[in-house]
Amino acid sequence: MNGANLRAGRSSAPGFRASASFPSRAKLGDRNARSDDTMMDAGRSPLLVVENLSVSFFLDNRQVLRAVDGVDLEIGRGEIVGLVGESGSGKTVFALSLLRLVPAPGRITAGRIRWKDQDVLTLTGREMRAVRGRQVAMIFQDPQAALNPVRSVGAQMEAVMRLHHGMKGDDARDEAVRLLRLVRIPDAERRLAQYPHEFSGGMCQRIMIAMALACRPDLLIADEPTASLDVTIQAQIMDLLLEVRERFGTSILLISHDLGVVAGLCDRVGVMYLGRLIESGTATEVYASPGHPYTEALLASVPVPEPGRRPAPPMAGEAPSPMDRMAGCRFRTRCAKAFNPCADVDPRLRPVDPGGHAAACLLYDDASVAPAATQAH
Ligand SMILES: Nc1ncnc2c1ncn2[C@@H]1O[C@H](COP(=O)(O)OP(=O)(O)OP(=O)(O)O)[C@@H](O)[C@H]1O
Ligand code: SF4
Ligand SMILES: [Mg+2]
Repeated sequence: MNGANLRAGRSSAPGFRASASFPSRAKLGDRNARSDDTMMDAGRSPLLVVENLSVSFFLDNRQVLRAVDGVDLEIGRGEIVGLVGESGSGKTVFALSLLRLVPAPGRITAGRIRWKDQDVLTLTGREMRAVRGRQVAMIFQDPQAALNPVRSVGAQMEAVMRLHHGMKGDDARDEAVRLLRLVRIPDAERRLAQYPHEFSGGMCQRIMIAMALACRPDLLIADEPTASLDVTIQAQIMDLLLEVRERFGTSILLISHDLGVVAGLCDRVGVMYLGRLIESGTATEVYASPGHPYTEALLASVPVPEPGRRPAPPMAGEAPSPMDRMAGCRFRTRCAKAFNPCADVDPRLRPVDPGGHAAACLLYDDASVAPAATQAH
């Protein structure tokens, strides 16, 4: 594994609003229900360890698109890890690869994925199906597309309960009602009979969360769970994710192109650019003192609700194509701090400070944690 990565273990749990509305895992019928002693236990070995993961799409015209390029990441028990980056940076492909769901013509070309004590890339199809949903659940980027339009929400939820927990009939129905109430769908009993198109976007998102919770996963991957929702609903979904972690000890990988959305929720944050992880650290480190010029620019562009204060103008310059094998730093075409070596040297994650904060930028050399002297471009 590279020296610096998005590692588990330095959790700074954000605030949380408790709710009396959650049923316990024991009530959900889980014989393996976790108690509080398993929650937020960052001292144990991580649940998920990803090493040097690369995913490429092999296109018809023989071009190769490197969607994910050598990413390391760890997620501990009960941790919320944020993955941010602009559109096309590889967040969704990375998440899909964790479940071996990368669509053709995409393929995992290198790396290792360890889930608990299993090597995900060598599991049989049957073993992989046991991991998906039951242990690792994913809330997809587009909930309307992920839900089956011709089956009622109740039928879809009951199918999940039957598949993963062998629940049937009234038991499965009661559980579906309980989960819909949990995610604040009003009039849950009646709405079980309705179809996805009869729910708003925010409600579909909450139904997806309820379906993911029906599996009682150890890790929930939430891919843009608030995209296209208004800010009030966004806040509700974020509160819900926090409650899920607090109540069940669920680890969460929260993916967003919006740094503002994940700011208050994550223990650690990774920033992706063109398939690479270019910065990682605790949320406080990354937000309070970003190490990579790209993260700095991203943060500067987050709107601040202050009269007269405008977000920074969009980043200048064009991002290179993910199909180009450019020399040097991939961010140099847009970087205000670029200096001579940036054209030749491809930077890997280096420590920004003596903690775990790291950035893939030549401003930080290996010998010292202080930014190296810059020269004129
Ligand atoms: N099925 C596919 N075929 C070919 N290329 C793909 C496919 N899916 C994704 N890609 C490419 O892989 C790269 C990463 O895409 P990905 O969907 O992971 O981005 P993202 O960071 O999730 O973006 P967004 O914020 O828009 O969701 C992009 O260049 C994208 O065009
Ligand atoms: S390596 Fe150079 S071009 Fe790349 S982010 Fe750092 S200063 Fe900018
Ligand atoms: Mg995406």
